[in-house]
Amino acid sequence: LFSAIEMAPRDPILGITEGFNADKNPAKVNLGVGVYYDDNGKVPLLECVRKAEAILMEKLAPRTYLPIEGLAAYDKAVQELVFGADSAVVQEKRAVTVQAIGGTGALKIGADFLQRFSPNSQVWISDPSWENHRALFESAGFVVNNYPYYDAATRGVNFAGMLDALKTMPSGSIVLLHACCHNPTGADLTDDQWTQVIEVVTQRGLVPFLDMAYQGFGDGIEADGKVVRRFAEAGGALFVSNSFSKSFSLYGERVGALSIAAATAEEASRVLSQLKRVVRTNYSNPPTHGGQVVATVLATPELRALWEEELAGMRVRIREMRQLFVKQLKEKAPAHDFDFVIKQRGMFSYSGLTKVQVEALRDNNSIYAVDTGRICVAALNSKNIDNVIDAIAKVL
Ligand code: LMR
Repeated sequence: LFSAIEMAPRDPILGITEGFNADKNPAKVNLGVGVYYDDNGKVPLLECVRKAEAILMEKLAPRTYLPIEGLAAYDKAVQELVFGADSAVVQEKRAVTVQAIGGTGALKIGADFLQRFSPNSQVWISDPSWENHRALFESAGFVVNNYPYYDAATRGVNFAGMLDALKTMPSGSIVLLHACCHNPTGADLTDDQWTQVIEVVTQRGLVPFLDMAYQGFGDGIEADGKVVRRFAEAGGALFVSNSFSKSFSLYGERVGALSIAAATAEEASRVLSQLKRVVRTNYSNPPTHGGQVVATVLATPELRALWEEELAGMRVRIREMRQLFVKQLKEKAPAHDFDFVIKQRGMFSYSGLTKVQVEALRDNNSIYAVDTGRICVAALNSKNIDNVIDAIAKVL
């Protein structure tokens, strides 16, 4: 059986961390994976999480199986966060939420569900998109296409190209959209552009699948989640995957969710019943700890306020790093214009570095980035930025 099996390629993102972990250089920097590090280069344990864990430790509840769809308190809190507690979809019980194994797990559950009920639809992802989007939907059995998104010349969105593509997709096509902090480019749509996208998606009967892995890293929780609410108000089937990996710094706990908005409460209950079958045949039911932590924070007013404060702190520090990155590159590489980095949103910068430059950074300086030139600005800090800038100036 195994003799004919070929070596699979390294994962384009997590494979970088494997290389980074094996690197013995004490000055190494991992700008590859999307993880927020504090100014000391450490992944923070948020105070709101610490406090929620202390509450849970006091209760020390037995670890029985959760329901297939996850912890009820978690699903409710997520649904209210994603759609708004006072939204029509929540009030009319047209929304369903299942706890998932991170944002990736949510995408997988959504993809498997769609493959079961819309197997002839094709999936459209942005060009470029998070590397795993294509792989996830292809492995669920879909043909995956790209719609134009990033314009390297303007370092912004090729909105006319994107809209034209949406206008020619067959009805029922599944369109993967990044709700905020586009991964990998950091280039987001404006409110007005979203209005046009929502209009076309609705008119043409496309199925929007919003991936929201970075809520709170753009402009704030409310502002970043606004587009989800706008899609929900427009009616029609809507898929939303969200993740607390970054916003709660709970990467390894794998806490995410898939939410779906349906037309009626009765339709929603049928959808939920089928989602449960998908979960059951993937991993049976989700783990307890991460979901309990997030549910506790979201349902406890002081902890929720603390979370918002801590999330704002991460957002502000990333912005400061963007400013410093641009300022220092102006000094060290004045022939190159990096002002666009300040406009990009979220954890990433699509830096424009080529694959050869990325390889040189890795081989000469133990600075790791994605081959596409995506760097994680959230991994820069006041101690490593000088090294990073010197190295980038050299490869430029
Ligand atoms: C990333 O894009 O780096 C993150 O979403 C982590 C991952 O799973 O790829």
